[in-house]
Amino acid sequence: MLVPATEMLQKAVEGHYAVGAFNINNLEWTKAILSTAQELSSPVILGVSEGAGKYMTGFKTVTAMVSAMVDEMGITVPVALHLDHGTYDGCYKCIRAGFSSIMFDGSHYPIDENVAKTKELVTVAHKMGLSIEAEVGAIGGEEDGVIGMGECADPDECKRIADLGIDFLAAGIGNIHGKYPANWQGLSFETLAAIKAKIGDMPLVLHGGTGIPADQIKKAIDLGVAKINVNTECQLYFADATRKYIEEGKDQQGKGYDPRKLLAPGAAGIKEIVKEKIELFGSVGKA
Ligand code: 13P
Repeated sequence: MLVPATEMLQKAVEGHYAVGAFNINNLEWTKAILSTAQELSSPVILGVSEGAGKYMTGFKTVTAMVSAMVDEMGITVPVALHLDHGTYDGCYKCIRAGFSSIMFDGSHYPIDENVAKTKELVTVAHKMGLSIEAEVGAIGGEEDGVIGMGECADPDECKRIADLGIDFLAAGIGNIHGKYPANWQGLSFETLAAIKAKIGDMPLVLHGGTGIPADQIKKAIDLGVAKINVNTECQLYFADATRKYIEEGKDQQGKGYDPRKLLAPGAAGIKEIVKEKIELFGSVGKA
């Protein structure tokens, strides 16, 4: 059964660890992440971007696939199916499709509009039994060759959004999506502490988990981060393992071209990095 992420993240705040939110793209991704979480007895969040949802033919397909996999694989750890960086329309689509959690990313709107839209979605999501994440202060990253360094959110704006009754908050603290540039300044713990002081025990979300050094991850968890999103690193591990398999000519040996064989090393690569992250985040045995 899919569950909202509220309870698992409140427990994470209390227990001083974080739950990994890993983005999924297809069956291999989902299977690899679910089986690793189950092996480590860890709660887990499956993130679905709107692009990935479209790729998998729509959010209804995603819900059907994930729910059935949880059932058929005998997964007993808490699993939340969560829309990642949702638009206003995307949130409604996921609510209708049976997701258990949504993120409304209104960070690109003026704050008053972000507040108005988030407020409406909080009411609808809670009425339907979903948890909801909102965002303040855009998360940077590479887009068309332009590299943003990641904005730092205004703690007062964070408080305004937190007061709307959201379940967890993504706030920019210098984090960015994708690989971090060599001249990245690191996370702004000053900003994180200032946000925490304003919003109290609400779980905080750290986007852009790929490539953040372990000591910064641990410090962020100490300061109230309870959900950490990882996407690019799973893609890199998948690509590296698949390339190695092909470069070694294994796809040409026997029936090595069989997709179940061809995709197996990549899936094992995802399992490896997901295990590493769950251990680093401290959620082993917390299911
Ligand atoms: P990375 O791709 O940098 O791991 O970020 C993932 C993320 O924040 C998804 O919302």
